[in-house]
Amino acid sequence: MLSGVQPSGKLHLGNYFGAVHQHIELQEQGNAFYFIADYHALTTLQDASKLRENVRDVALDYLALGLDPDKAVFFRQSDVPEVCELTWFLSVVAPMGMLQKAVSFKEKIEKGIDASVGLFSYPLLMAADILAYRSHLVPVGKDQVQHLEMTRDLAEKFNRVFQKEVFPIPEYRLSREAKVSGIDGQKMSKSYGNTIEIFAEGKALKKVVMSIVTDSTAVADAKDPDKCNVYALWSLFADEAAKAQMRQRYLAGGLGYGEVKKGLLTSIESYFEAARDRRRRLASHPSEVEEVLRSGAVKARAEAKMTLELVREAVGMRGSPIA
Ligand code: ADP
Ligand code: TRP
Repeated sequence: MLSGVQPSGKLHLGNYFGAVHQHIELQEQGNAFYFIADYHALTTLQDASKLRENVRDVALDYLALGLDPDKAVFFRQSDVPEVCELTWFLSVVAPMGMLQKAVSFKEKIEKGIDASVGLFSYPLLMAADILAYRSHLVPVGKDQVQHLEMTRDLAEKFNRVFQKEVFPIPEYRLSREAKVSGIDGQKMSKSYGNTIEIFAEGKALKKVVMSIVTDSTAVADAKDPDKCNVYALWSLFADEAAKAQMRQRYLAGGLGYGEVKKGLLTSIESYFEAARDRRRRLASHPSEVEEVLRSGAVKARAEAKMTLELVREAVGMRGSPIA
C-alpha cells in the first residue's frame, strides 16, 4: 500500500476525513508506505523556506494524527531520487495525448499556475512513486483517480513493450468521505480559503466554525438537515444514534444553527485533543521527527533501488550504474 501527500500547507478536515484517516486505518492492515511529495510540491511552490516549513508541518500532522513509524514506512519523496530516474523510463512509453487529457493539469492552468514542463509531467512522477515500490493498492481521493488510471496504463505498457512483468498493476481505493464541504458549502480546499484546519485552536478555531454559512430560517422553524452545511460537518464526528437524534431536532424546529456550531466546535476540540498534545510534544523534538523520516527513507530507497535494477535490465542497460 502506498500514498503520498503534498506539503502544501496546513491540513484541514477535508484532508483528514478524505485521506489521512484512511491512511492511518490501513497501516494496521498491511505493508504501508506513506510519503511527503516534495518533488511534486515544487511544481507550484518555489520558495525554499516555505517548502521546508510545509514538509515539517505535514510530518508533524501525520505523526500526531496516529501514523505509527513501527507500522508504516514514512518518508520524504526527495530522499528517494530513484523516482526521478523511473519517471524518465515511464516518459518514453507515455503517449503525449494521455498527459494532454489530464484534468488536474487543466484545472491548475485555469487557476493561473504557470504551465511548466514539470507540471505537465506531474502524473508521470506520480506513476513513478507508485511503481517504484511495486505497490498494489493506493488509497486516494476522487481527484486522483485519473492519475491512477494513467499509472495502470503506463505499468501495462512498460511490461508489454519490454516483455517483462516488472510492475504489478496497482488498484486504487477511495475513502468514505469523498467530499467534505467547507465553511461556504463548496468542497473544502486550501485554494478556496474555506477550510477548517485540524490543528486550529482557541479563538481562531471558534471564529471559523461560527462563520459557517447557513440559510436564514428562524430558530423556531423546521430545518432540513440534508441541506445544512453545519449538520454535514457536525455529523463527521457523530455516531448513528446521535445523528438520528439531531435530525429529529432539525425537523422539529426550535433548534438554532448557533447551537449546532457550538456542538461542532466541542467535537473538533475533543476529537483532536490527544493529537494536538502529541503534535506539541513532537514540535519541540524535531530530531525525533527527522529520525523517523530518515529511517523510513532507508527502507523505501532499498525497495526503489531493487525496482530500478529490474527496470534498467528490462530496457537493456546495466542493472546498476557504475559507482
Ligand atoms: P486541497 O484541495 O486543500 O489543496 P489536496 O488537493 O492537497 O487538498 O488534497 C490532499 C488529499 O485530501 C487528497 O487525497 C484529497 O482527495 C483529499 N481532500 C482534499 N479536500 C477534500 C475534501 N474537501 N473532501 C474530501 N477529501 C479531500
Ligand atoms: N498527487 C497527489 C495529491 O495531490 C499526491 C501524490 C503524489 C500521490 N504521488 C502520489 C498520491 C502517489 C498517491 C500516490 O494528492
